[in-house]
Amino acid sequence: MDRIRIVGGNKLNGTIPISGAKNAALPLMIASLLTDETLILDNVPRLADVAQLQRILGNHGLDIMAAGKRPGDHEYQGQTLHISAANIIDTTAPYELVSKMRASFWVIAPLLARMKEAKVSLPGGCAIGTRPVDLLIMALEKLGAELQIDGGYVIAKAPGGLVGAEIDFPKVTVSGTHVALMAATLAKGTTVITNAACEPEIVDVADCLNKMGAKVSGAGTTRIVIEGVKKLHGARHTVLPDRIETGTYAMAVAMTGGDVQLAGARPELLQSALDVLTEAGATITPNNEGIRVARNGAGISPVKVTTAPFPGFPTDLQAQLMALMACAKGSSHITETIFENRFMHVQELARFGARISLDGETAIIDGIAKLKGAPVMATDLRASVSLVIAALAAEGETTVNRVYHLDRGFERLEEKLSACGATIERISG
Ligand code: EPZ
Repeated sequence: MDRIRIVGGNKLNGTIPISGAKNAALPLMIASLLTDETLILDNVPRLADVAQLQRILGNHGLDIMAAGKRPGDHEYQGQTLHISAANIIDTTAPYELVSKMRASFWVIAPLLARMKEAKVSLPGGCAIGTRPVDLLIMALEKLGAELQIDGGYVIAKAPGGLVGAEIDFPKVTVSGTHVALMAATLAKGTTVITNAACEPEIVDVADCLNKMGAKVSGAGTTRIVIEGVKKLHGARHTVLPDRIETGTYAMAVAMTGGDVQLAGARPELLQSALDVLTEAGATITPNNEGIRVARNGAGISPVKVTTAPFPGFPTDLQAQLMALMACAKGSSHITETIFENRFMHVQELARFGARISLDGETAIIDGIAKLKGAPVMATDLRASVSLVIAALAAEGETTVNRVYHLDRGFERLEEKLSACGATIERISG
């Protein structure tokens, strides 16, 4: 199994290109199941999760072609995928494939909408909480589907097709909103989703669905209205930049010091995180090419942060912020409200000497002057990258084990960081 070796202490200086968003690319790829024409997606990141979803879609009979580079493409441009679901030969998503990645469960929505049936294994994914699918099932039932759970599979049927409905989510859910949105595009009549998730990735998917002929309005607000149509067609869409990758590198620069241009980043996708970084002492300058992040001289100030659905501070940046606060001048409080078990990085950050205690949903971090490198490993994607951030600023050497978590969500991490002066390398085997 690959490991990453980091020798900390270098400031980061230079340019980091931001990749397409994993959490938009995955539902966009899944949306291709809604049409028998080709969906072309540009700026798809080269990630293990994307490759895994390609396998899952291939199992349903989709043809996926990754186009080669074109003249003028810059080095880090994501891949272009041509996805054709002309013939769906299998409406089952098996355990072996779905258990590796939670988002693959979402194929249930387009399969049900277009094929009127689906059999999808209950999902796996990052170990960050119980992560049920009851709200996804509730949404599909509201749209007229009959669902039952049998042998670890959700078996869904809608023999007469889905029918528009009012879906009021009792709690904000990204997965629930994606599923309701995709399913409703081909339902008979109008669907109104209330208390919908407002995440930028929902807006990106809704934009793409509209290009495919869907009638979606209100995405990005808590009330989304979908007028069902009979058929969707092919389209071309560019995946939006990854706000979590952006925030992660911004926190790395705030931690090590230095001056880095995050090329292609869009500040409005993570304003709450940028505000926290400013409070912590980083200088954030949005410009035409992205966002410039610098910290020179000043120490890191402690912060009080609570994770919340968009536009609040994202749970997917909570672990990274905790690494940063491990070196703040004082005591920080980070409260996690989205997932109940998302503090697995606490014990690993402690290996660097970080002083963190937990009080229910809140972590109290007492900053120390310097972290020290150590062998570490993590159980989820964002936790793993928080260890990388800590290692970049720590004195001495760190080995991060279980690198496959990082490969799920960070494209060319070592390359991007070493181009800015970090001492970081992958050790294979
Ligand atoms: C998405 O997960 C993201 N994944 C997560 O990113 C992200 O942390 C999360 O949204 C919150 O922003 C993808 O987009 C692929 P939810 P998702 O449905 O959709 C509860 C990463 O590292 N809930 O908004 O699964 C749930 O347990 C990943 O890239 C139910 O109770 O999140 C959680 O407490 C990790 N019943 C809350 O809602 C349900 O049926 C929010 O979950 C569904 C969810």
